[in-house]
Formats: sequence, structure tokens, C-alpha cells
Amino acid sequence: MGNRPRHIGIIMDGNGRWAHARGLDRAAGHAHGVQAATGVYRAACERGIEHLTLFAFSHSNWKRPKDEVEMLMRLSGEFAAQSQADWKARGIRLQVIGELDELPTTVRRAIEATVDATSAGTAMVLTLALDYGARNDLLGAVRALAARAQAGLLLPEEIDEPLLRRELTTGAIPDVDLIIRTGGEKRLSDFLMFESANAELFFLEAMWPEFNEAMLDVALEAFARRQRRFGRTAEQLAYGG
Ligand code: FPP
Repeated sequence: MGNRPRHIGIIMDGNGRWAHARGLDRAAGHAHGVQAATGVYRAACERGIEHLTLFAFSHSNWKRPKDEVEMLMRLSGEFAAQSQADWKARGIRLQVIGELDELPTTVRRAIEATVDATSAGTAMVLTLALDYGARNDLLGAVRALAARAQAGLLLPEEIDEPLLRRELTTGAIPDVDLIIRTGGEKRLSDFLMFESANAELFFLEAMWPEFNEAMLDVALEAFARRQRRFGRTAEQLAYGG
């Protein structure tokens, strides 16, 4: 096998359409989405992937009907609490990106408890993106740096990429190498926009509850075939320089 991504990010789209096609409600679609998420973190860990980031709730998802927002929040809390033992057994460490402050207290506590309980895991870092949006994350970082500059603690010319990265909630995870999106849409929807500068993108027509190990392998095979040049030419990569 050729190159393997160190960090995979997934936009889990299509729960609603999957449910609608089966005469089920959206809640059932999200519940099946959680099962698909369980399958994929296990498969990714078994394949030696170091980082997996799942887009569970975006900053713009607050605009959804109140019932659905509550359902998505509850599912995220339950996912963390109920998976804790499995993550510990597999050496998976949970992390979160986004703004935890606006989350319901019970959900935040369940997630923080699992982050603590799994902190010794070394096999894979599983990052849940919750109330996450790349623009919002960048805004927060820019404001924090501006405040330090205003306080006289930082000169504008001292601001470089590493400093900016440290202020992002994604500061502890590496750039994403492969972004997978289910559900047929071909866009990033404010997911890891800064961290995906050199990412390969893989889009599937399958709806998220249908996503399985075999589809992950297809994405990994496609990634291995692609040549990542990071701004260099194909000749430079082949012959050095
Ligand atoms: C998109 O489906 C999915 C989401 C808005 C959130 C993803 C959430 C889950 C998979 C459940 C929670 C998962 C975890 C891991 C806690 P959609 O509702 O936009 O589907 P549609 O485009 O077909 O309507």
C-alpha cells in the first residue's frame, strides 16, 4: 500500500435523506449515523490511522429546529459516554474542537469526563467537532492575538503560522490529509478550512448511515494513488530537488 493519511476528517452528511428514503424520521437517521461513526472509528484505528476527526455538529447547525439540535447534542454526549470503555480498551483518546461553552451542561460534562478518562490513549486520537466552524475558529484566534497585541504582549510582525495555529481549537491536531464527505455534496461546509490546505478530498454518493469499512478502504486506496505535491512539481518529487 502507498501513502496512508495520518489524519482523516469526515463530513458525515445524509442522515436525514437516508431516513426519509426509508419512511423514518430524521432522529432515526442520526441514530444510525452514530452506529456508522462507531464502525468507522474502529476501522480507522485498526488500520493504524493516527487522527480521525468527525464533524458531529457545526456552528451553523444551531439554525436547525430546536428538537433536532437537542437530539444531536444528546447523541454526541451519549456517544462519548457509551463509547468510553471501548475507547479505553482500544487506546483511543478523545479530543474536541469547537466552542464547548454553548453546549448543554450535561453534554459538556459527559464529553469532558470522557476526554479525561481516555487521556492515556496512544493508538489513535478521535476528535469530535462540536459547535465547530472554521471561520468561527479563525475569528476566535485572531481576536485572542489582537488582544495580546493590544496589551503590548505581542508585536504584529511576531505573528506567524505556528502562533496562529496555537490559538485555534485545532491547535493540537495535525493538518488533515484526507477529507471524506458522504451524501453526494461536494463542498467543505466550513470544516477544517485552514487545516485542509493540502488535503485530498473524497466524495461519496452513499448517505452517512450506509458508510462502512469497505468504503473507508476505497477512500484509502484512492488516497494512496494520488500524488501529493505540496506545491512542488512531479519531477521534483521523482528526482529530488
Ligand atoms: C448530516 O446529516 C449530519 C449532521 C448534521 C450531523 C452528523 C451527526 C451524526 C452522524 C450523529 C451524531 C454523531 C456523532 C458521532 C455524535 P443531515 O441531517 O444534514 O442529512 P441530510 O443532508 O440528508 O438532511
